[in-house]
Amino acid sequence: MFYVTTPIYYVNDIPHIGHAYTTIAADILARYNRLKGNEVFFLTGTDEHGQKVEKAAKERGKTPKEHADSMVDNFKDLWKKLNVSNDAFIRTTDTEHIKTVRELLQMLFDRGEIEKRSYAGWYCVPDERFWTEKDLIEGNCPDCGRPVEQIQEENYFFLMSKYQERLIRHIEENPAYILPETRKNEVLGFLKNNTLGDLCISRPKQRLSWGIPLPFDDNFVTYVWFDALVNYYSATRYLTPLPPHPPLTKGGQRGGSDWWPASHHIIGKDILTTHAVYWSTMLMALNFPLPGNIFAHGWWTVDGKKMSKSIGNVVDPNAMADKYGVDAFRYFLFREVPFGLDGDFSEDALIRRINTDLANDLGNLLSRFLTMAEKYFDERIDWVANKDEFVEKCIKTNENIHKEEYWLRLSFNLILEGIWQMIGDANNYIAQKEPWKLAKSNLEELKIVIFNIWNSLRLTALSIYPFMPDTAEKMWKQLGLKSLKEEAISRWEWKPDYEIKVSKGEQLFPRIEKKEEKQKIEKKEKAKMIEGVKELIAIDDFAKVELKVGKVVAAEKVEKSEKLLKLRVDIGEERQIVAGIAKSYTPDDLIGKKIVVVANLKPAKLMGIESHGMLLAATDEEGRLSVLTLDREVKQGARVK
Ligand code: MSP
Repeated sequence: MFYVTTPIYYVNDIPHIGHAYTTIAADILARYNRLKGNEVFFLTGTDEHGQKVEKAAKERGKTPKEHADSMVDNFKDLWKKLNVSNDAFIRTTDTEHIKTVRELLQMLFDRGEIEKRSYAGWYCVPDERFWTEKDLIEGNCPDCGRPVEQIQEENYFFLMSKYQERLIRHIEENPAYILPETRKNEVLGFLKNNTLGDLCISRPKQRLSWGIPLPFDDNFVTYVWFDALVNYYSATRYLTPLPPHPPLTKGGQRGGSDWWPASHHIIGKDILTTHAVYWSTMLMALNFPLPGNIFAHGWWTVDGKKMSKSIGNVVDPNAMADKYGVDAFRYFLFREVPFGLDGDFSEDALIRRINTDLANDLGNLLSRFLTMAEKYFDERIDWVANKDEFVEKCIKTNENIHKEEYWLRLSFNLILEGIWQMIGDANNYIAQKEPWKLAKSNLEELKIVIFNIWNSLRLTALSIYPFMPDTAEKMWKQLGLKSLKEEAISRWEWKPDYEIKVSKGEQLFPRIEKKEEKQKIEKKEKAKMIEGVKELIAIDDFAKVELKVGKVVAAEKVEKSEKLLKLRVDIGEERQIVAGIAKSYTPDDLIGKKIVVVANLKPAKLMGIESHGMLLAATDEEGRLSVLTLDREVKQGARVK
């Protein structure tokens, strides 16, 4: 059983590249494990309680739940679009989740793990965290730098401090518990050099009402992190594929749930403490087993800068997927930067990866291979066992790609490097064997070469599946293969029990022209269209253009321009239109004329003057313009069809 989670994301934010990054990482693991035949549960979801949500809802005149309901689809839709194969989506407002949180709180309370205390501290409202005086940096929150408020109140505390030694031991005895290594050392350093305090896990209701009420004291709601972290466990009691879900036990081997503990919690480095310290000690107090691994990845900056709404450089994964394709985007995130380190995102870097790794190395290899298979063997591939040096290399590289250690430690970049090693080797193999020569001299060897390339492409398709599922499926089909599902097919020796007939399909990754070049091309195309519409269009396309009769009510020359006239045209409403007709008409020629205007054009600026609409005119041989007029009296604003 393999159980992987992402953080549950705050509903307040709309998803950005950071959220996409964590979720796709979990998707890669889930897909890989399914391919290996493991039973998989992949969970993501949203974190919906707390002060920030309450505040945002108020500002929008909604209840917190209504606000959360309206935001949650941003995440669900994005995961669908990015081909994320989560098995469930948890919301902390789910009734079953709330029930589990309350049961666990009661259990801890009954065991004396939770205590009521009077408490004075500094509170950071946006982060919803208490700090002691010495934590503060220049009187501000040490995490976000914003001002803190002093608060004195009674609250409930989880007695976290008593688990400090046990946690240190657990981390030391389980080297893969916290990854990457540097993050593990950070946590250990912190635990060894500081005295762990107890954790305040409640908020008085009068200060915060949007939370789960404590089962043993209705005047308080639970701290948002206590609620949020429990999602990983509560989901296993009502969202996993193996019902019936047993009633909560007092902990023990699997914490009373078939799916607990999780194999991997994937998170960003920003929330490592809450997971490595709070969650781990909560589980210890509950007497539940700890997860197999907590992996804290790095953060993305954009063009060297921190992503922020105020700078306006937040990368929208929806837009990236639309512009460059889902698979290219997924690939880039995990190839560009070793998982665990910080990375910098730029569209230029993404385009470079698409053009070199995807279009050149992979795309060209497949299409060259298919062309040869078609030309030399009428698309049929014979399964021929003949291990040459290339085959030996492929087998070795393939073993590396599937190395257990890489997958346990989430070394995605090493895995992808392995896959591209295999692709590079296949390209070299073609260059070295020169199949076009073999076609004239040695058909037997050609058959072997073609088979070997086919087989290496098959393994490539299989190994890129977790990263680029759509591309893998396309390749699989073009290679004449049927089902991408069994683990056995990841061996070189695997032989399909059906005849292999390849078929050329669409190009995997078209090259992306550089921005400037692309703009030039677009300009040229536009110019061509203006010259004369060459392509036929459907009636629906024409219907999109709203043509109206307009009466020119005023006209004047645009200063410093030989070509432009500024017109005021009545088309049922008055419009300012700047038209390039000054060489053919004086302003007076036009005033009072009824003309034809494109009314639903987006406004544009010509020499800094806004033009909202366009008039229709024909050009004669000398380049003189003739404005379209009407040969009967028609009222301005009438539709032209
Ligand atoms: N709700 C909490 C998590 C509770 S888990 C029990 C939370 N939510 S969040 O919406 O702020 O998401 C945080 C996660 O988003 C990070 O852990 C990380 O996975 C991701 N990222 C947010 N910004 C990021 C970058 N700039 N770069 C990479 N990932 C980052 O915290």
